[in-house]
Amino acid sequence: MSNMMKAMNLAAPGFTRRKFLKGLAVGAGVASLGSYEAAAQMVAGPRVRPVRGWGVPEGLIRLSSNENPIGPSPRAVEAIMQYVYKFNRYYRGRGLYAQIAERHGLPVVTPSNNNEDRAEPWVTLGCGSSEVLYAIASAYMRDGGQMIEAAPGYGGVVRTARNFGARVRLVRTTPDFHQDLDAMKAAITEDTRVVVITSPGNPTGIIAPFDDLKKFVSDVPSNVMVFVDEAYIEFARNPQDRIGAAPLILDHENVIVTRTFSKIMGMAGLRVGYGLARPHVIEKLEENKGGRVSSLSVVAAEACIEDQDYQDRARASAWAGHDYLTGQFEEMGLEYVPSQSSFMLVNVRTDADEVTRKLFEEYNVLVGNGKRRWRMNNWLRVTSGLQEENEAFIAALKKVLVSS
Ligand SMILES: Cc1ncc(COP(=O)(O)O)c(C=O)c1O
Repeated sequence: MSNMMKAMNLAAPGFTRRKFLKGLAVGAGVASLGSYEAAAQMVAGPRVRPVRGWGVPEGLIRLSSNENPIGPSPRAVEAIMQYVYKFNRYYRGRGLYAQIAERHGLPVVTPSNNNEDRAEPWVTLGCGSSEVLYAIASAYMRDGGQMIEAAPGYGGVVRTARNFGARVRLVRTTPDFHQDLDAMKAAITEDTRVVVITSPGNPTGIIAPFDDLKKFVSDVPSNVMVFVDEAYIEFARNPQDRIGAAPLILDHENVIVTRTFSKIMGMAGLRVGYGLARPHVIEKLEENKGGRVSSLSVVAAEACIEDQDYQDRARASAWAGHDYLTGQFEEMGLEYVPSQSSFMLVNVRTDADEVTRKLFEEYNVLVGNGKRRWRMNNWLRVTSGLQEENEAFIAALKKVLVSS
């Protein structure tokens, strides 16, 4: 029996497509091509090579973690290469604080290297913005209290606050997935310490407009911290929206804004993020953080923040991906949430556990599972990838939905 015939014989009931593909690939004498790659190649159409994403193994299509698919900024890579022989030293440069403050129109004050000197910066750096989110929970809810966030929401502060024993009040988004600022305001009690607003929301991708935020901040008691998480705001189509909430800090003591180098700047693995607030708030956050960001991460961030061309390319890639994906979802008759972020929600009208499992096991495609994370039983959260990654995802999704 030929190898091909043997493989075909194995494709009997109970024999999965994955095993079939593996048998086919090995049987056909292409042992170097694993089953995942073969599957990815198949769903990508008549290509002669497997889908190749940046920073992932060949054939893996990772659209689950909202990472930047276009690879790192060449300027950031160059900066690291130039610095690489110096990391035996602690990093003394403070230029990144100035670059960040300037970018957001805040007073440029850099922290001093000397502990005696009391410089009062408006910026704090973190090991990813995650560290700043942790610091917010630690600074304001270590001895309990209440916090408010939208549901569905990112939940980064919620996780830490709960560990500290704080109470969490989740406020449902409106039916079209906007954060309901009026309801969040109404949920504030004497015990409320922090309100978290994520703009654009994760997983919704919907922006909280500046005017709404401004009104919200003016209306809430000044002892309630309003934290605006802007991890994805640079993907917004309207440049005005990308300014975000930082200008509110000039007039309000109780506003904290975070951003990250993990998304538009393509540096997720280097772990750099930052918080913006008035100096006494920054000081409080500093007291609640761990160590310092590594020298290689800082030099990469300094280079990347100036690399406008790279950021434009990352934005263009996300938008092109959204246009393609929404076009496909419309053709397939699937409801989706129009997103201003690098990912979007889609309702596949089938159990999300089942769909995400099949996408991964049969086609090596990873997407976010709305059921597991937000109890959105039929929803996936899909990061916009490179065009060929998006095409492979859609091809795989079509096959999975037909078989479900
Ligand atoms: C809304 C939101 N905030 C914060 C973060 C934390 O990102 P990082 O720690 O990489 O800056 C993420 C990560 O996915 C996120 O989605």
